[in-house]
Amino acid sequence: MTDASAAELRAEIVKRARALYELENQPRPFVPGETHIPYSGRVFDGSEVEAMVASALDAWVTAGPYAAEFERSLAAYTGARAAVFVNSGSSANLLALSACTSPRLDGALQPGDEVITPAAGFPTTVSPIAQVGCVPVFVDVEMGTYNPDPESVERAIGPRTRAIMAAHMLGNPFDANAYRKIADRHGLFLIEDTCDGLGATLGGRMAGTIGHFGTLSFYPAHQMTTGEGGAVLCRDPAARKIVESFRDWGRDCWCEPGKDNTCGKRFDWQLGQLPHGYDHKYIYSHLGYNLKATDLQAALGIAQLRRVPQFVARRRHNFAALAETLAPHADVLVLPRSIATAQPSWFGFPITVRAAASFTKNDFVAFLEQRKIATRSLFGGNLLRQPAWQGRAHRVAGSLDNSDTIATSTFLIGVYPGIDDERLAYMQATLRDFLESRRR
Ligand SMILES: Cc1ncc(COP(=O)(O)O)c(C=O)c1O
Repeated sequence: MTDASAAELRAEIVKRARALYELENQPRPFVPGETHIPYSGRVFDGSEVEAMVASALDAWVTAGPYAAEFERSLAAYTGARAAVFVNSGSSANLLALSACTSPRLDGALQPGDEVITPAAGFPTTVSPIAQVGCVPVFVDVEMGTYNPDPESVERAIGPRTRAIMAAHMLGNPFDANAYRKIADRHGLFLIEDTCDGLGATLGGRMAGTIGHFGTLSFYPAHQMTTGEGGAVLCRDPAARKIVESFRDWGRDCWCEPGKDNTCGKRFDWQLGQLPHGYDHKYIYSHLGYNLKATDLQAALGIAQLRRVPQFVARRRHNFAALAETLAPHADVLVLPRSIATAQPSWFGFPITVRAAASFTKNDFVAFLEQRKIATRSLFGGNLLRQPAWQGRAHRVAGSLDNSDTIATSTFLIGVYPGIDDERLAYMQATLRDFLESRRR
C-alpha cells in the first residue's frame, strides 16, 4: 500500500467512525417528567470519537505524542508553566502533595507535619494528607461559598503546620490570592484542588495556578473529560520534574517514553549509594507510583479542551438562570455566592435548605428526583464523620457546624452543557412548583 492510499484509508475510517457515532447518538426528544436530567455527564459531538479513533489507529498504547500535546495545550489554556497528565484527579492530588515531600524542595513536608484542609468536600482532597504520613487540620467552610474564609485558615496554623490543601468547591474559587499570602507569610505550601473548576478565574488568573500546585480531574462529570484522567499544574520546570518522578515509579530519569539519554550522561551518574555509572533509567529518587495516563485519553482531552470555553460559558448561563429562579426564595434557601474577585466555572448548583423552611432537604430532593431531575449530595459532607476517618490522627480548628449542616441540608443540581434551554425551563418550572406550593 502506498503512503497516499494509507492516508486515504485512515481518513475514511476516521470519517466513518464519526458518522456512525452521530447516527447512533442523535438528540432524542425531551419529554418533561419522563426524560432524566442528569446532574452532569460527558458532552461529545463526534469530534471526540474522531480524535479517539485517530489515536487508536496509531496504536500507541501508552503516553506518547498526544499526551505531550495535551500537556502543552493544558498549560497554555491555564497559564501554568507546566501540566502533567495523570490517570485521575485523585492521583493528581496524591502527586501534588507527594511532591511537597521531595527532599529537592526547601521546607519539604515531613511525617507528622500538619496540612490545613476544609472538613466538607471530596474525600481525595484529604486522603493524600494521611497517605503521605501527615496530619489534617480540619477547618469549617462558609455557607454559600462552601469554602473556608482566609481568616479561619490563618487561625488554624500551629507550630507543625506546613501546607494548605483546599478545593475550589464546585468550581467556586476560594480566595487563593489571600491563601497564598498566608502561605508565604508562614512558609507553607498551597495546593489548589481545581478538580471541579477548570476555567474558573480569580482576578483574571486561572484557579489552580496561584498556589504551588493545582490539580484537575477529567472524570466525565467535570468541565471536560478524558474518561478517567487528571493533571497537576506546576509553577516551574523543577516542580514538574518532581511530579513526573512520583508519577513514573519515582525515577530520577526524565526521558520521555521510548527515548534514551536525554540528560546526555545516562551512564555517568552517581546517586545514593549506587555504583558510579549505574543506568540513570533505573535510578529512583522518590518512593513513587505509576499513575500515568495513555495517548488515547490525551487525544480525547485535546478535542475536549478546545470546547472548554464554550462548555464553561453554558455552565455559567445555566447557573445564572437557576439563580434567578431561586432568588425569591432566599428566606428558605441558602443560595450560592462567590467572592468578588472570582469568576466561577460551576460544577453544579448547590442549595441549602434553611432550618426555618417548612420542608427538609429530603422533601425537596424527593420531589426533584421523582420528576427526573438528578440531585447529588455535596460530596462527603463533614468528612470527619465518614467511616474512613474514624480513629485517624487529625486536629480540628474551630467548630465544624457548617460542615455538619451541609450533610443534613445541602444538595446540588446540574448546570452542565447537556442541559439545553428546554431542560433548563423544565428545571426552573419544577423548582418553582415545589417552592411555591410549600408557601401556601
Ligand atoms: C474536589 C474534587 N477533588 C478530587 C476529585 C477526584 O477526581 P477523580 O474522580 O478524577 O479522581 C473530585 C472528583 O470529582 C473532586 O470533586
